[in-house]
Amino acid sequence: MNHIYEKLQKAYRSFQEKIEFRPQVALVLGSGLGNYGNHIHVEATLAYSEIEGFPVSTVPGHTGRYIFGYVGEVPVVCMQGRVHYYEGYEMSDVVLPIRLMKLMGANTLFLTNAAGGIKQGMHAGDLMLITDQIASFVPSPLRGANIDELGVRFPDMSRVYDLRLQRLAKKAAMDLKIDLQEGVYIQLPGPQFETPHEVAMCRTLGADAVGMSTACEAIAAKHMGMHVVGISCISNLASGISPFSLSHEEVQETADRVAEQFESLVTRVICQI
Ligand code: HPA
Repeated sequence: MNHIYEKLQKAYRSFQEKIEFRPQVALVLGSGLGNYGNHIHVEATLAYSEIEGFPVSTVPGHTGRYIFGYVGEVPVVCMQGRVHYYEGYEMSDVVLPIRLMKLMGANTLFLTNAAGGIKQGMHAGDLMLITDQIASFVPSPLRGANIDELGVRFPDMSRVYDLRLQRLAKKAAMDLKIDLQEGVYIQLPGPQFETPHEVAMCRTLGADAVGMSTACEAIAAKHMGMHVVGISCISNLASGISPFSLSHEEVQETADRVAEQFESLVTRVICQI
């Protein structure tokens, strides 16, 4: 068996041995949604460290566990802490948690993150619905022998982010009177923030927000046939747009400031999936 698939199967067995819950929606909590657990009627949790072969996050503030429970009536699995490529993992390890959530039963993936705003008129604290992505600067999680059990060799990426879910998110934002921006997310490898010229390059390529996660996760999910929706918290203006230098603290502060709004939007979307 393919070693990546074998590892995934082992992780799945660890899950099956410990958890009976079957989620429909998978949610990845980015910066600012770290406390989203408070919005979940929690049925069970599973520390990443309890899952065989699971890559464990090294970023401060990322506790690292799955939360199983209900948002409204919807059974969800929630990743509190994600794995980033810049931490040094293989891309196949970075997306293992996403693939595992599909095996658990989730057919919809809700991705959230913090990102730097590139698009003109964006402000720190805005929320942006991801309409498409550029992942060309990080290795594909699908590189290597295709795992036929998960999906096809050459998966279509013409619509990574589900149109119905995008409409739903826009409607939810309108109902909540949240001004939801829309745009293209570009993933760069990090961990360093971009230079002003790199941001200028991203803008030229058509990107509206830049981050260090999410796009590779969306590829792995799409490969497996999941319906994907993504929202970025614009935690700062990207390098060279803002006159200030960037810091992780600024990202966290802005994300915390808009957390309540972000949480209510995520909840409303999930309840309507
Ligand atoms: N660049 C890359 N990743 C980020 C940023 C940024 O400006 N802000 C939050 N995550």
